[in-house]
Amino acid sequence: MSHVAVNRIAPSDLDELPARLTTRRLGRSLVVLDETDSTNDDARRAADAGCPDGHVVVANAQRKGRGSHGRSWSSPPGEDIYASIVLRLDVPPARLPPLTLCAGLAVARALSKRVGIEARLKWPNDVLIEERKCAGLLVETSSVGARASSAIVGIGIGVNRARFDPPLDRTATSVHIASGRRHARAEILAEVLAELEAEVDRFVAEGPAPAIQEIAARLAWIGERVNVGELRGRLIGLDESSGALRIDAGTEVVTVVAGTLERDAP
Ligand code: BTN
Repeated sequence: MSHVAVNRIAPSDLDELPARLTTRRLGRSLVVLDETDSTNDDARRAADAGCPDGHVVVANAQRKGRGSHGRSWSSPPGEDIYASIVLRLDVPPARLPPLTLCAGLAVARALSKRVGIEARLKWPNDVLIEERKCAGLLVETSSVGARASSAIVGIGIGVNRARFDPPLDRTATSVHIASGRRHARAEILAEVLAELEAEVDRFVAEGPAPAIQEIAARLAWIGERVNVGELRGRLIGLDESSGALRIDAGTEVVTVVAGTLERDAP
């Protein structure tokens, strides 16, 4: 059974989302908002209040969109996708970090299927089109004892923006800019949810290794000189069981579980 709540003041292409869903769980409980502070906060409140697995909050705009490392996420109305998915996974919290990479893979596959663009993944939470960021993932978990009780997968995708203001104009892109045309957000989001559901099912059934192999094939900057904080070296790939970065630092191969990956200036 589906549950859809729409709180909108004007029609938008997001209203088509229920009709476009092909998922079993993701989005079958759905809230579509005109504007909110952050869909991740709304999803967290819904999770704590007992919403079903796969509950989705999507907004036309966010007032306080959040990115990773405490950064803000630019969220103007009508152009991009701002969505958060509640996952209830019976998985220890320590095993959840690859979920961010799995969500990135779902976005990249959806863009490939719906737009014909092959995006790459910048560890751990960026989706790149030709070196510019077009999407970001923010996964926030809460646990009870040793088990994760719920994870919120926040997805922001630059879809229809034709230009970005400074300083984003140096680093960001959108599906519109990359493909030369506008896209129905509901169509792209429905595909992302279908891909994410498949990834989550595989993650639960088989662990992260199959997804991590596919993610490694899309990983940006393999073989290039990179840094994470003070650590410098050549990017080798990903650890198959954790999704951690493997960097050849010259004297040893270092496994990195957190931090901001940068490419060394040539
Ligand atoms: C990043 O790359 O820094 C992560 C960006 C995540 C943005 C999305 S938009 C929907 C959800 N709500 C938020 O406040 N953030 C995430």
